[in-house]
Amino acid sequence: MEIKVELTKHPKQKPDMNHLGFGNYYTDHMFEMDYTEGIGWHDARIVPYHSLEMDPASMVLHYGQSTFEGLKAYRGQDGTIRLFRPEKNMERLNISNQRLVIPQFDAEFGVEAIKKLVSIDRDWIPEGEGTSLYIRPFIIATDVHVGVHPSKTYKFMIILSPVGSYYKEGINPVRIYVEDEYCRAVRGGMGFTKTAGNYAASLIAQETAEERGYTQVLWLDGVSKTYVEEVGTMNIMFVIDGEVITPELNGSILSGITRRSALELLKDKGYKVTERKISIQEVFDAAKAGRLNEVFGTGTAAVISPVGELMWEGETVIINNGQIGPISHLVYDTITGIQSGKLKDPYGWVTVID
Ligand code: COI
Repeated sequence: MEIKVELTKHPKQKPDMNHLGFGNYYTDHMFEMDYTEGIGWHDARIVPYHSLEMDPASMVLHYGQSTFEGLKAYRGQDGTIRLFRPEKNMERLNISNQRLVIPQFDAEFGVEAIKKLVSIDRDWIPEGEGTSLYIRPFIIATDVHVGVHPSKTYKFMIILSPVGSYYKEGINPVRIYVEDEYCRAVRGGMGFTKTAGNYAASLIAQETAEERGYTQVLWLDGVSKTYVEEVGTMNIMFVIDGEVITPELNGSILSGITRRSALELLKDKGYKVTERKISIQEVFDAAKAGRLNEVFGTGTAAVISPVGELMWEGETVIINNGQIGPISHLVYDTITGIQSGKLKDPYGWVTVID
C-alpha cells in the first residue's frame, strides 16, 4: 500500500531537548490508516499532527477496544538513526489485536510506516545520552455504537515524542511496592496484551504506591497473590546466587522485547538464565539470606531500571545496598550501546533508517 505524505506548513517550535521528561511533546507529523469491514486497511497517510474529531459514541471511548505499542528511534553519535527490533513490536501488536478482536495488519508494512514517519520527523530525535524518540503506534475502534460487540471500523495511528528517561531516577535504582490487594491481570484475561485497560487497572495501586514514596508497583499473580508477575511498565528480573531468574510468560505477563533481548544477551554471555514461576516469598527469603544479588526491570520506556528496594506486606528489603549491580550494568550498557551504535550489533537487532 502506498503511504501518501502531506507535510506541515506550520512546523512546531521544538522543546528544550535537555529537559524533555517523558511523553510531554509530540512531533510535526503522524501516521494514520483506516479499516473498514469488507475493504480492509486503507488510506495510509502521513499528515500534520492534529487533534481527532470523534463522535461521543465511538466504541473505543466506552469499551476500551484499543491496542498499542511502544518503541524508540535512537540517534547515534555517528548521526545514524536506529530502531530496535521494530518487527517484534509489530508482531506483538497483531497478537494484542487478535485478543481484542481488532483486525490484523501487515506487520512489515507497519515497520515501513514507522521508518517513513521517523525519517520525516528526524530533526526531532534528540542526541543527548539517555534520550530518544518514543514511537507510539496504536489502534482504536471507531464505530459509532454503544452496543457491546467488536467494531467494524478502526483507526491505526503512529505518533512520536522526543523523550528523556521514564523514571526521574534515570539509571539510579527505584523503590518498588509489592501490591498485595489489587491485581493487574489474570490468566485468560488480557495481561499479555498492550491494551489500555491493563494500564487503567494499574492506576489505583500506582497512586497508593507513589503516595508512600515508591516509584512503581510490582504485581503478583491475580489468583493466589503468591507469584511475581511484572511491574506494568516493565518486566522484572532477579539475580539469586548469580542466576538470572524472571517470571515465565504465562498469559498474564507482557512478553517484553527488552525482556527477551536481555535474556538472549545474558545467555550469550554465559550467564545462567531461567524463566520460571518465582514467588515473592522466595525473593524475600533470598534477600534475607544475602543471596539476592540484584533486581532490575526491563522495558522500552524504562530501558533497564535497577531496583534498590522492595516493600511487601510492611517488610522492606534493600538490594545491593541500593546500588546498581554488575549484571544490570552489563545489560544496560550492552542494550543501550547497540541501540546507539556505540557497540556492534551481533544479534541483528537494529534497523537503520536512511
Ligand atoms: C513501553 O515501555 O513502551 C510501555 O509501553 C510502557 C509504558 C510507557 C506504558
